[in-house]
Amino acid sequence: MCGIIGYIGTDNGVDYVLDGLKNLEYRGYDSSGICIINSSSQTNLIKQVGGIDKLVQKVKTIRPNGKLIIGHTRWATHGKPSISNAHPHFNNDHNIFVVHNGIIENYLEIKSKLIDRGYKFVSETDSEVIPNLVDFYYKKIGSLSEALRMTLDDLRGTYAICLVSTIEPDKLFVSRLGSPLVIGKAGNKIFVSSDPSAITNRTKSISFLNDYDVAQISLKKIKVFNQKDNKPSFAKFEIINQRNEQNNLGDWPNYMIKEINQAPEVVELAIKGRLSPKHQIKLGGLDDVSSQLDHIDRIIIVGCGTSYYAGLIGEYLIEEFSDIPVEVELGSEFKYKNEPISRSTCLIAISQSGETADTIAAINKVKDFGVLKLGIVNSIGSTISRITDAGVYCHAGNEKSVASTKAFIAQVTVLSLLALRLAKIRTKSFDNLSEELLKLPDKIRAVLGQSDQIQKLAHKYIKYKNFLFIGRKYNYPIALEGALKLKEVSYVHAEGYSAGEMKHGPIALIDKTFPTIVIATKGDLYKKTISNLLEIRSRGGPIVLITNFKDQKIKNMVDDLIYVPESHEETATQIITVALQLFAYYFSLELGNNIDKPRNLAKSVTVE
Ligand code: G6P
Repeated sequence: MCGIIGYIGTDNGVDYVLDGLKNLEYRGYDSSGICIINSSSQTNLIKQVGGIDKLVQKVKTIRPNGKLIIGHTRWATHGKPSISNAHPHFNNDHNIFVVHNGIIENYLEIKSKLIDRGYKFVSETDSEVIPNLVDFYYKKIGSLSEALRMTLDDLRGTYAICLVSTIEPDKLFVSRLGSPLVIGKAGNKIFVSSDPSAITNRTKSISFLNDYDVAQISLKKIKVFNQKDNKPSFAKFEIINQRNEQNNLGDWPNYMIKEINQAPEVVELAIKGRLSPKHQIKLGGLDDVSSQLDHIDRIIIVGCGTSYYAGLIGEYLIEEFSDIPVEVELGSEFKYKNEPISRSTCLIAISQSGETADTIAAINKVKDFGVLKLGIVNSIGSTISRITDAGVYCHAGNEKSVASTKAFIAQVTVLSLLALRLAKIRTKSFDNLSEELLKLPDKIRAVLGQSDQIQKLAHKYIKYKNFLFIGRKYNYPIALEGALKLKEVSYVHAEGYSAGEMKHGPIALIDKTFPTIVIATKGDLYKKTISNLLEIRSRGGPIVLITNFKDQKIKNMVDDLIYVPESHEETATQIITVALQLFAYYFSLELGNNIDKPRNLAKSVTVE
């Protein structure tokens, strides 16, 4: 949510910052801005409403130069998208400029105190109090870095802040609390970003700031100190091996379809070196906690959005293969629950970005309980990967489209491996699942080969404004995810439901204007789900069946049918999900929506 880029160097950095903002655009895209300080300490503040391309156009006409720059792409929280609400924000004297991610909860209180002291405000944002409060303290004590520290002491809430000023035009000041921020070094260029993936095309040498770190960055030195006790610390740089594929759309028209099509490769990468042809499981990231893992007696999975749905599949998988009970919780609910937790519990946090505020809060909630904290995370080096005891990376590569697709496929694959790792005995099902995981990439390729058929289906149903998705067991979370995908990118109402629960309410919605997507796979529950399908048919609801079972009898009972490759029920989830992702994609495409950047959504939700 919102993206920050900062630059200090010996070259003109305007293009670097615009390029970084472009990489961050998926975090927020309602407005953006850039502040450039040139060698004569003159400032150029350029803001624009809309996507980064508009900002780039505006900057091109002005052609500014500068070696000290901050930029921001916004996802509105306080105040509508507008030029005055766009960052960078500045003080009344126009010499302190700030970009901010997060939420300042006590901004109204600070704002009113500053107004009493004669300060004027031009935006509706919480962020604007920051440059003005720094200004206030600076005028009292004459040190910019100390003024920033005093300001941070007054703020309640979360922040990642990057500040530049003509008072000290050779420095970038940064700080974080509960919102990510990293520093990247590339010779005589130093970058700051709220997401390492936005700068890894410039440098792989990254330092992750911790909460309460305040850094004063000049080309000569990076000084880090702790905001609370003022003690100096240092910026520890590490090499991040992150693929930079996000900048390369290749021949694809947008990232969502590119990422859906990466699913086979994503499964291959997730199992590579972890599942041998002889079905041995090796999850290197768990080696250090191996003995602890062998003694857990309860698992709590936490996540948000699509990652939460992956967790629901994880529950079925782990309970199928181990005797460990699993509960799945939404990060936003778990953190406020009075949950009794023992030391033998294991908390597994699932997150694509590794930065979701509610998931982080759930991990922090159990930090003093002595429980084992694991992460299933895609973004390398992200906050969740650093605050958990151990974990397994998804290795899906950067996911740029706001609606998560390939990351979900990777999460479920990793959860399958984890379920096998936790299995106490090797059953027939164990061999079946490991065998199926090895075959999964080709089966997903076959579904991708049905894209034209799914596009035609989306075209046929485009007039409908409501959809129900139903399934049982593994197909229940898939129904939830299929409905979520459709509503995220198409803005039509879509509800996911357990097929068995459908009679307890949603069936009241069914008529000829309300189609149902039924997911029924070969196995014990096929017939039961078909009974639910018939109940919908009796009420005149249009039906699309997605199945891997060639049941001749069903053909005449449904309006449309999609066959996907046959597989065991545990891996059918990924195969069917790809079909549902394609349906949502083509639906949105036909509606002409901005597929990669759906309205009101953000890729990474770093505020509560
Ligand atoms: C946002 C995104 C979703 C994502 C969810 C959780 O809502 O738009 O696609 O599933 O956050 O994000 P995480 O990064 O924790 O998986």
